Amino acid sequence: MDSTAALDDVLAKAPAAIDAAGTLDELGRVESGLLGKSSAIGEVRRSMGGLDPAERPIVGARLNEVTEQIQSLVEKRRAALEVEDEALLLAQDRIDVTLESYVLPDATTHVLQQTIDEIVDIFVGLGYRVADGPEAELAWYNFDALNTPPTHPSRLESDTVYLDYGDPADEVLLRTQTSPVQVRWMETHDPPVYVVVPGKVYRKETTDATHLPVFHQVEGLAVDESIRLSDLKGTLAHFSREFFGPKTEVRFRPHFFPFTEPSAELDVSCFDCDGGEPGCRVCGGAGWLEMLGCGMVDPAVLEAVGYDPDQLSGFAFGMGVERLAMVRYGINDIRHFVDNDLRFLGRFR
Ligand code: DAH
Repeated sequence: MDSTAALDDVLAKAPAAIDAAGTLDELGRVESGLLGKSSAIGEVRRSMGGLDPAERPIVGARLNEVTEQIQSLVEKRRAALEVEDEALLLAQDRIDVTLESYVLPDATTHVLQQTIDEIVDIFVGLGYRVADGPEAELAWYNFDALNTPPTHPSRLESDTVYLDYGDPADEVLLRTQTSPVQVRWMETHDPPVYVVVPGKVYRKETTDATHLPVFHQVEGLAVDESIRLSDLKGTLAHFSREFFGPKTEVRFRPHFFPFTEPSAELDVSCFDCDGGEPGCRVCGGAGWLEMLGCGMVDPAVLEAVGYDPDQLSGFAFGMGVERLAMVRYGINDIRHFVDNDLRFLGRFR
């Protein structure tokens, strides 16, 4: 067979061989079998030097033609195989979206946390910052710095859980109120002070429909140059209207707390009967609901943290989160909050 016939023969057989290559590797082998050194084409290329000078350009031209045609067939096949490869990969990686997945039931934050968030948001809206403090607290912060004398009944072991009871200088207890954070904040920050303190508190209580030994409070403290009782009332009136509704009225009832003077309890008008419907299911006909404790910061507390009571005045308040949530949602037993009954928790989505 002369050279051109050999080339034609290769070209005739090439398409079938190229098409038969089922993978890129196989195609690589077919390609070097057709075009490589030891292929028929390779042989013709090597023999060029020995050809008759008249024949050489003819065979050369044919050689190039055939090589190019084969190369182009190989490239086409390679592109097709690459697409197939990609499709195969995609098919292997495919996620069956029709497959049933594990669906989480709608979860929600606990109603108490929702209530805390709401209370805190109202005060943050007024420019208050949020503070926290330790639940295992020194008696000094929980009582002494808050102007509470050593003989005060709330300090008795029957009321307070002591972790380290004895030397009054370093008694450690589970805080009975969030008020100690007032002291901790003022010790470490210069006035003016506008903070709210959400947190857990602990008391030696026997559990019943209205008492738990662990519950939550939100404390508030404002100290500035000319804070007055009317600021306290206006602030709490704003809070009450945001929390219970725009028609809510507030009133102060005189009270006593060691760390405020004067002290008061704040009542809000009943949001259910708008005041004094006999037998109202929320207020029982009283028209008012007891809401929280408050007062003007006692100068002794300011002195205890090194603030000058002649320059500064302030107000403070502390509210029970469980109580607020119970009133607002008509929950008649505080134990529902900790029973972990999904029928109860699920009502507060
Ligand atoms: N700490 C008080 C309690 O647990 C509540 C309270 C009353 C907080 C008056 C205050 C306040 O900041 O001014 O009963």
